[in-house]
Order: sequence, then C-alpha cells, then structure tokens
Amino acid sequence: MTYSLAGAEQALLAKRDNLNLRWYPRYHLAARAGWMNDPNGLVWFDGWYHAFYQHHPYSTQWGPMHWGHARSKDLLHWEHLPVALAPEGPADKDGCFSGSAVVDGDTLALIYTGHKFHGDATDEANLYQVQCLATSRDGIHFERHGMVLDTPPGLHHFRDPKVWREGDAWYMVVGARDGETGHVRLYRSDDLREWQDAGVLDEAEKALGFMWECPDFFTLGDKRVLMFSPQGIAAQGYSNRNLFQSGYILGQWQPGQPFVRETEFIELDHGHDFYAPQSLLTPDGRRIVIGWLDMWESPLPEQQDGWAGMLSLPREVSLSADNRVQMRPAREVETLRGVWMPWPVTRLENQQITLPENDDALEVLLRWECGNSSAEQYGVSLGEGLRVYVDAQMQRLVLARHYPQYGLCGMRSVPVDINASLELRLFFDSSSVEVFVNDGEACLSSRIYPDADKRALALFAWSGSACVIEAGAWPLA
Ligand code: FRU
Repeated sequence: MTYSLAGAEQALLAKRDNLNLRWYPRYHLAARAGWMNDPNGLVWFDGWYHAFYQHHPYSTQWGPMHWGHARSKDLLHWEHLPVALAPEGPADKDGCFSGSAVVDGDTLALIYTGHKFHGDATDEANLYQVQCLATSRDGIHFERHGMVLDTPPGLHHFRDPKVWREGDAWYMVVGARDGETGHVRLYRSDDLREWQDAGVLDEAEKALGFMWECPDFFTLGDKRVLMFSPQGIAAQGYSNRNLFQSGYILGQWQPGQPFVRETEFIELDHGHDFYAPQSLLTPDGRRIVIGWLDMWESPLPEQQDGWAGMLSLPREVSLSADNRVQMRPAREVETLRGVWMPWPVTRLENQQITLPENDDALEVLLRWECGNSSAEQYGVSLGEGLRVYVDAQMQRLVLARHYPQYGLCGMRSVPVDINASLELRLFFDSSSVEVFVNDGEACLSSRIYPDADKRALALFAWSGSACVIEAGAWPLA
C-alpha cells in the first residue's frame, strides 16, 4: 500500500460517522478517528499551540505511522487540522515516527524519525531509523526534505529526535539502543540540515533499560532535566509497575561538556497510563509537559468505538526545593471551570455518601485531614470501577481500577504522610482520571471505562472515620 495525505483524510472521513463517543474525551486531545500514540512536535508557532501525534488513520490499531495535527490557543480547545505527514518514503516508507518541532525564523520545522526496513520487515536486522526534516510557512502544509541524519553504524533503533536552540546552535537528542543498553545521543547543527555527532549524552547502567525512547532535554531552575521513556526496567515493589516507564534524571550540562548526573531515574507519573511525554515552552516561559495517556500492550476498549488513545492534560513542571520535578495542571485548565459545587461533608463515619454530580467532565477538589482520621480506607469512588483513597495501614494513596470485562484491574499508589493534610485535585473525563497530589508532589493518571449510567461519585470512609476539610467539584466546560 502507498500512503498519502489525501488517502489519510479520506480514511478519516469514512470513519467519522461510525464513532461511538461514549468514552471520547471532552477536554483532552484524541484523534478524529483511528489510532493515536505519542505527542509529537509540541510547539508555539504563529499565534497557536500546535500538537502533532503518532497516528494511524486507517485503523484503531498501531500501524504505519502518520503525524496527526491539531492546534489550540489554550492547550485545551483543539482544532483538528489535516494530517501533516504520511509515510511517503523513501526515508520514512514504513512510518513517520516520533519527533519534535522548532521555529526557525518564519518557518516551522518538524524533525522526526523515518522508519524503514531494507528488505524483510519481520527481521530487525533490516530495520533502519533515520532523522528527517519537513518544513512549513503556514504551519499546516509541510514540505518534506527527507533524511538529514543517517543511522549510526551498528545501530538499528535510533529514534525520537528532540531539537532545541541554545546559544548560536541547534542541538538534538535522539534515543537509541546499543545491544541491551538504552542511551541518548547528542548532535549539533547550524542549520537543521547538517548534524555533527556530539557523542553519547547518557546511557543506561545495569537494569535501566535496553532502549530509551522519546528523550527530551531542558532546563528547569538550575538543573538540566533529561526526560525519557525507558523500555526494559523491571518492576520493583511499588515502582516501575507499567510495561514501560517515563521519568527523568537531573543533572548539569553545558554545550561541549559532558552531562553530569545528580539524581537517579525518577518516575514522573505513578498511574497506569502515562508514556512518551514531551515538553514545550509557552510564550511566557512556562515549561509544559504532555504525555500519551495510555500504555503499550494495555487493552484499549475504545478500539471497538472507532478510535484509540488520548493525550494527557497539559502540565506545568517546576523544580521542588528537594530537587523533584513537580507537575501541576497548566493554569489554562482553570478557565474550563463552571460553577463550584461544594459538598457539605465534614466527617465520614464508616459510611459512603453518593454525591449529586455525575458529569463526565469534572474537576474534583478534596482536602482530607489525615492526622484527624482513624478510618483504614477513605477516599472517592466513581461508579464501581474506580476508587482513589488513602490506605492508612499501607500509608499510601491508592488508585484502584476494576474493569474485569476489559482486562483492566489493579492498583497504583504513592506514599502519603498520614499525619498531615492531603490535597487532591482529580480531573475526570469520559475515560480518564488524572490525580494531582499536594500541589505537585505526585501525579497518578489512568484510563477508566465506566458505563454511561454508572458514573456516580461517592465519598467513603471504612473502619473508622475520616475528616474532610474541603470537598467539591467544578463541571468542566
Ligand atoms: C514510543 C514510540 C517511539 C516511536 C513511536 C512509534 O511510544 O515507540 O519510540 O517513535 O512510539 O509509534
């Protein structure tokens, strides 16, 4: 099959009328139809935020990757644009894989991975990944320039370029696999077309993964953040529970110098579904991160509805006093709020209270006084499938989902101080929940699949009592 932008649009048009929208997001970005994975090319250009994404317009399964495209004034209300890139070859004949965007004068430049097999596509020895360039003046139609950086000798997996400007040069990090070792390579260019090898920026030591996907490298406070998505880290206790992780290492770096690590690898989000995050800078200097709100090889029940995959809320990142990357919903999210609906609850005593709101799109605010609570478990539930609660014995905040009909059961959790107060902001959409803990301390994001008539919210406290300082919700427009 040969691929083209026109073919992609036709396929999407044909699919549009057969979508079931029961789980389609109300305020997150998802593809018009078909498959979506990683966010790509997040950028502010010509008065718009642009979000591109890994996209298969022909099916709800992953397949030959295209770049879907949408733009927004506020990172929340997205306008779909025509598919930006199709695997038209030769450098990207088997897929336009992940990459980034930069503004070069009056031009928007996309730098992405061309994925191609030389011969039999079932044999990884035939796989080559090269970095490609496409440019646009109007931010909608792209001119393809083909390969600008070939696969380094001996490598096959070499993908997901993230480009930035620093001083008088362009820099690019690319994720790669060398045998059983994941690493990130660095390149430098004067013109986005000719790239000089600047060595390996960082690489996995034992047990830190065989492949590092989707690297990003940016400054936060007085640190450099190397954010990436390693494959092949084994789960340990409560950590690294997902098939693949996403997280960061902090350190120091200057052009021409080696990267000096100052931390271990730290996971960014502790829910079931957050992968391949990428960052962008807003015109007013905020660093925003958006991830794919799904996980490889995890069931996606919406595939039966004609679409698959969604992106996370935009999250502003900052550095805490103890050198952790904190994520908070970008402040634009507050503009979605309707009228505040307080829940008049001060103490729950071995009981469950069902709340009036059951809008699909809600921000819920909960503040618990854990030090003044004796209950063994207390928190909030949505229908029968989702509970977000403090487990006082485990001393953890737990997100437990239970959708056995879709093979999606299990819990994720983060530690909590059960002698302090605990603030939770929970963002519910038709098939997702994102929980922000104590103003940036932790975040848990998961897909959820409630039946339409089973979305009742309830507060509960079992085996004792729980003290509520504040509780309520905003419907999100
Ligand atoms: C990450 C990833 C990238 C790759 C893309 C392919 O989820 O595997 O490494 O470029 O997805 O769709």
